Order: sequence, then C-alpha cells, then structure tokens
Amino acid sequence: MNNRFIRACRRERSDATPVWFMRQAGRFLPEYRKIRNQHSLIDICKNPELCAEVTTLPVDILDVDAAILFADIMLPLEGMGVKFDITDGVGPVISSSLGDPERVHSLSTLEPDSDLPYVMEAISVTKKLLGSRVPLIGFCGAPFTLASYLIEGHATRDFVKTKKLMYNDPETWHVLMDKLSTSMGMYLKAQVDAGVDAVQVFDSWVGCLNPADYRTYVLPYSQHVFSYLRDRAVPRIHFGTGTATMLPEMRQAGGDVFSVDWRIPIDVAWQKLGYDVAIQGNLDPAVLLGEGDLIKAKTADILNRVGNRAGHIFNLGHGILPETPKENVRQLVEFVHEYSKPERI
Ligand code: CP3
Repeated sequence: MNNRFIRACRRERSDATPVWFMRQAGRFLPEYRKIRNQHSLIDICKNPELCAEVTTLPVDILDVDAAILFADIMLPLEGMGVKFDITDGVGPVISSSLGDPERVHSLSTLEPDSDLPYVMEAISVTKKLLGSRVPLIGFCGAPFTLASYLIEGHATRDFVKTKKLMYNDPETWHVLMDKLSTSMGMYLKAQVDAGVDAVQVFDSWVGCLNPADYRTYVLPYSQHVFSYLRDRAVPRIHFGTGTATMLPEMRQAGGDVFSVDWRIPIDVAWQKLGYDVAIQGNLDPAVLLGEGDLIKAKTADILNRVGNRAGHIFNLGHGILPETPKENVRQLVEFVHEYSKPERI
C-alpha cells in the first residue's frame, strides 16, 4: 500500500508529502459529471458499486495518496428523522428546519448499521476496488456544522438562527448537540469497523464562532464524537475553516491531524497547535484557477513553511471549486510529490 498518507498522519517520514483533496471526486472531473448526468448525488451514495467507482476516480486520474468515501455529511440525518434535499449549486436544503424545541426532542439517535447499510457496504466494495493502492478515508459532519444546517434549513453567511438558539435556549442546544454527537460518534465507529483507514470530522462552519463560545457550546460535543474512537487505531483528522483563533480549543476537542485553511500561514497554525499533532492544508482553492507558475509558487511556499518537519498532508483549505481545470490539479499533485522528495532538503 502507498502509505505516505497514514505515515504523515502519524508524523512519520516517507518518500514524499502525501496529497489529497476535499471534493476530489466532484464536478471539476468530467468523468464524475458523466456519471452524475445519469444519477443523482443520493443515488450514487446509495449504490455501493457506483459509490466505489466514483470514490476511486481521483486515485486513477490524479494520483492522489488517499481516497475519501463518496458520501455527504447529510446522509446520516435521514436516519435521525430529518428530510432533506441536496440542491445543485446550493447544497443541503431541509424541508422543515429545526427551530422549535419539540422538533429537536423528536429526533432519534442514529443506528448506523441499520440506518446506513449502504455506506457500510460501499466501504467494503471500495476497499476491494482500491486493493493495495491507497488508504480510504471515512467521514462525518461535526455536531456544530450539522446543527447549523438543521436550524438554518440551508447554507447561510451569518448563522443568526443557529446562534439565537445557542445563546437563548441552551437547554435545547444541549439536547440537539448531544443527539448529534452520539449519533456521529457511533457512525464513525461503524465506518472504522467496516474498514476505513482514517476518518475526518468536518466542522466546515465553526469558524463563525469565537474561542470562548467554541469552548462552551461546541468543544464538549466534538470531544464526545472523538471519544467513540478511543479504542480504534485509525488516524482522526479534525477539519474546520476560519479557525485561526480557536486552534488550541479544537485541539482539545480531539484529533491526530488538524486541517487548516489559507487564512493562516501553515507554520503559524502548526506552532499554535503544537508539534505533537500532524497538520493538513492549506492552499486556497481559488489558486487552482490560476496559471501554473502561480500554483507552483503558492504550493512551494506552503512546503517551505513546513520545512522538513514530518507530519504534513498537503490539501486545500476547503473543497476544490467546480470550475477548476483538471490539468491544474494533476500538475499540483505531481509538483507536491516532486518538490517534497527528501533530497531537496
Ligand atoms: O470527494 C469528496 O470530497 C467526497 C465526497 C463529499 C461530498 N460531500 C460529496 C458532494 C464530501 C466529503 C462531502 C462533505 C460535505 N457535504 C461537507 C463538508 C465539507 C465542506 O465542503 O465543507 C458539507 C458542508 C456538505 C454539504 C454539501 N453537499 C454542500 C455544501 C454541497 C455543495 C453544493 C454545490 O452544489 O456546490 C453538497 C453537494 C455535494 N456533495 C457535491 C459533492 C461532490 C457537489 C454537487 C453534486 O455533485 O451534485
């Protein structure tokens, strides 16, 4: 197995810096769009063979060092009794958002094996299809990010409804976050038991909070999610965007690898987190829309900031943009591998 990715998660050296991308199986790939023209996003997720095929596409096409299971952070919410759609260009839309406490109390706790049998099956089919090529990453949404979709009903800029519930009805907030964190903890554990080699917890929108509120309203619940993996040996990645001011708090919540965005220089982020954890990031996805020389210069800057410290996984700060030229992504992978070979340093 190409084990660069797992070795970096454990802060061990290998022959080159591993690289993979969030949304690497997304719309920027013509091969994905072709499949997507025939099937909805949810259809792909619920068909294990198709899911395995889509998950493996970027490994074949881009030469990335890890695959991420093709799924969505919203899928497990169906098992908790939430109805939603994933709308093109918008993202998740909840038919009746969870403003009132009664709806929160009526949410059930997830039973991963019976609510999401297709995810467990997809993991096993994907592992077979990948063979000994690269590790497979499983994932879930973090309680805060899921709560924000549930309360707002759709993507938002200001998270006003979410904060309103959090500040003014802490009891309901607690019930919601407790149900989400228990469900996501069990979901991740089930994914590990089904065969994933690492997991990533996506707290995509938590950067809208300040560190004190993160500590009060989020940290205990994200910690609860990670606590389910205590006895499992797989690396755990903790992802967020806009988290520059709350890295020590996120670290306290849990994880072996912390994924940071472009708003903070990667060396500054690593120093804040401490060198006894690994780091992932942090190219701005918009850079990939530019010229080759710009992409190389920005990438070299990240790799130079990391220097020869073991434990860096190259990634973007957030998902690949749909309009990204595939050739730019391919060349970026090649450049990271080439530039990070040990003889350079
Ligand atoms: O390649 C991969 O990254 C694996 C698959 C994956 C998807 N969603 C498939 C998908 C992963 C890891 C996710 C996680 C996810 N889903 C997150 C966390 C990561 C992040 O981006 O912050 C979030 C917030 C969601 C919710 C969601 N689903 C959004 C915001 C969108 C994009 C809306 C759009 O159209 O731009 C989706 C849809 C979605 N999920 C797509 C993909 C490939 C794109 C749309 C499609 O193919 O129909």
